[in-house]
Amino acid sequence: MTDVSPTPDFRASPVPRHVAVIMDGNGRWAREQALPRQEGHRAGMEAVREVIHGAAEAGVEILTLFAFSTENWFRPEEEIMALMTLLQLYADQEKDELRERNIRVRVLGDLSPLAAPVRDAIRRIEETTKQGSRLLVNLMVSYSGRAEILRATRSLARRVALGELDPDDIDEADLDAALDTCGLPDPDLLIRTSGEFRISNFMLWQLAYTELHITPVLWPDFTREHLFEAVCEFQRRERRFGRVTSPAS
Ligand code: FPP
Repeated sequence: MTDVSPTPDFRASPVPRHVAVIMDGNGRWAREQALPRQEGHRAGMEAVREVIHGAAEAGVEILTLFAFSTENWFRPEEEIMALMTLLQLYADQEKDELRERNIRVRVLGDLSPLAAPVRDAIRRIEETTKQGSRLLVNLMVSYSGRAEILRATRSLARRVALGELDPDDIDEADLDAALDTCGLPDPDLLIRTSGEFRISNFMLWQLAYTELHITPVLWPDFTREHLFEAVCEFQRRERRFGRVTSPAS
């Protein structure tokens, strides 16, 4: 997990400002090593550290990681406990180094079902790293795209009921502002590991024009070099946003 090769020169074209990642394959990685699933998640946590540092090196501004979905609450109790314990451990172990590296961490999603000690650890990492300006890391926890859109819809409906908002005036900016990711640009690049061609209820609104990079690498094996490869591939893409040519050209 140390720096094994120099960061490529990304200066020829823009680095994706916002990279989102569906970190998949921890269970399969564990099975391949004849280890319990929990060990796959533990190795996945190491990959999280690695990729955060790689993203900062590459000059990415925002890194959004899908750490625990709304649907993951239906996994066996033992696995949920292991994931929550890892989240708590991660927050407490990493917060000082992240602050030193000028990296900010926020945790987004419906945190109401989380146990108090996990919520406290989240509060501590958010508070400790809040001045970080080199890279913003969003850990999406107890999150799904549909649930987020539902929460946003309810909050807009409440404003309509209070007479603060005319339904005919609701626009994309209003919905954007009611999402957990309020104030953030949409991801430029989505990376999904473990070779599955699915979005899996992740950032459904925000991914409208995001470039997809799907790699067969299982998440615990994902290194900063894999991230750099994805960034280089992104730099070769032409983004047209539904137009004939790129809006910048
Ligand atoms: C998907 O692998 C991954 C998850 C459900 C959890 C992601 C968690 C981590 C990367 C580790 C903890 C992270 C932090 C920030 C502390 P899977 O279990 O669905 O794998 P499979 O599809 O191979 O079974």
